[in-house]
Amino acid sequence: MNGHTNNVARLGAAVIGTGFIGTVHVEALRRIGVQVRGVLGSSPDRGLRAADALGVAHTYASLDDLLADPGVDVVHVTSPNHLHLAHARRILESGRHIVCEKPLAMTATESSELVELAAASGVVNAVNFNNRFYPLHQHVREIVAAGDLGDVRFVTGHYFQDWLLLETDWNWRLEPDKGGSLRAVGDIGSHWLDLVTFLTGQRIVAVMADLATFVTTRQQPRGPVETFSRERSADTVSREMATEDVASILLRFENGARGALSVSQISAGRKNSLAWEIDGSTDAAAWDSETPEHLWIGHRDRPNEILLRNPALMGPAGRAAAALPGGHVEGFGDTFAALFRAIYADVDRGRPSPRPPYATFADGHDEMLVGDAIAESARLGRWIDVARVPARVEVPA
Ligand SMILES: NC(=O)c1ccc[n+]([C@@H]2O[C@H](COP(=O)([O-])OP(=O)(O)OC[C@H]3O[C@@H](n4cnc5c(N)ncnc54)[C@H](O)[C@@H]3O)[C@@H](O)[C@H]2O)c1
Repeated sequence: MNGHTNNVARLGAAVIGTGFIGTVHVEALRRIGVQVRGVLGSSPDRGLRAADALGVAHTYASLDDLLADPGVDVVHVTSPNHLHLAHARRILESGRHIVCEKPLAMTATESSELVELAAASGVVNAVNFNNRFYPLHQHVREIVAAGDLGDVRFVTGHYFQDWLLLETDWNWRLEPDKGGSLRAVGDIGSHWLDLVTFLTGQRIVAVMADLATFVTTRQQPRGPVETFSRERSADTVSREMATEDVASILLRFENGARGALSVSQISAGRKNSLAWEIDGSTDAAAWDSETPEHLWIGHRDRPNEILLRNPALMGPAGRAAAALPGGHVEGFGDTFAALFRAIYADVDRGRPSPRPPYATFADGHDEMLVGDAIAESARLGRWIDVARVPARVEVPA
């Protein structure tokens, strides 16, 4: 014992954005014992309605109002993508710890600014790549690092959803000035790319991508629509679509491994299927988010195994991320609590740990660089190296 007690109950958080994922943040924060001081919505009225529904005591009138609250130690940014930079910049300038939703920003130029600001401020900075925190993923990372699969050779998989299949499906993600110029890749492909980098410990160094838009015109309702909403407005305007519905991407990893990722938001029946397989030189492993408690482990010379998530059968990292005994199903919402436990352990210490298990702003920026390479490759029709540059150096005039 070093005399240090983990005391997140004294910490206060505020959540910006009260839509689909803002709600998940509030619930997970409460579950780990952090006090949710208040929420900030797109308008005081919408914020108030969300706060009421969630039982949060306070609604902030503005970001200034939120940052004036001395009880807020950490700010969670769950607003649409185009607001991440402006929100995160102000939060970092105020010296608060920050958890920002993915993608970290709209462009790599924006995300590199945030990496620099976060480094200069010394605060805990995290990007909400929650998939890392399925307990089986924490476990897989450990067994891959221990060499249980041999050398990683081939990393394949997909991220498929169907909620943008129809031309009447609408969301702010379809507007490039709100969602970014990559849509399916930025929105869900980013999760897969971050995840396989985490699982294998190998960064992606080059990509060859083909992007396609099949639903070229969509009907935009005149009012706002929340994510995964089932309401359909009769009062719509036709919009031409510029961003991709699907992507096929070949990958090269820094250790020489190869990979292939398919991404789609128009795959009927696939609600939220993030799937990967890692083929090593001795064994393999595979997983699908629609059956998140099952890890498939493939062998050449003996029967394959299915590991049902179980704290008693996983290594220390898997155990730490698991909340419930085996057979008591954990899923998407639980990953947020596990991720926040790791982040708030650092907040409690007052600074980031040297190699955090959660994605930092540097990781979020790295994913933006991979995204840039994907866009460039699709545009030019050839392999593109991921352009990682050393930190910017001031050159005297
Ligand atoms: N990690 C994940 O699994 C995951 C899942 C879904 C979304 N996300 C990310 O979370 C973010 C939000 O996505 P969503 O699906 O919750 O969208 P959403 O449309 O359901 O919610 C967005 C919320 O932001 C609010 N908002 C808009 N402008 C605002 C402003 N100026 N100030 C404060 N709040 C404002 C809206 O009122 C709405 O409540 C996106 O960046 C998205 O990529 C991550």
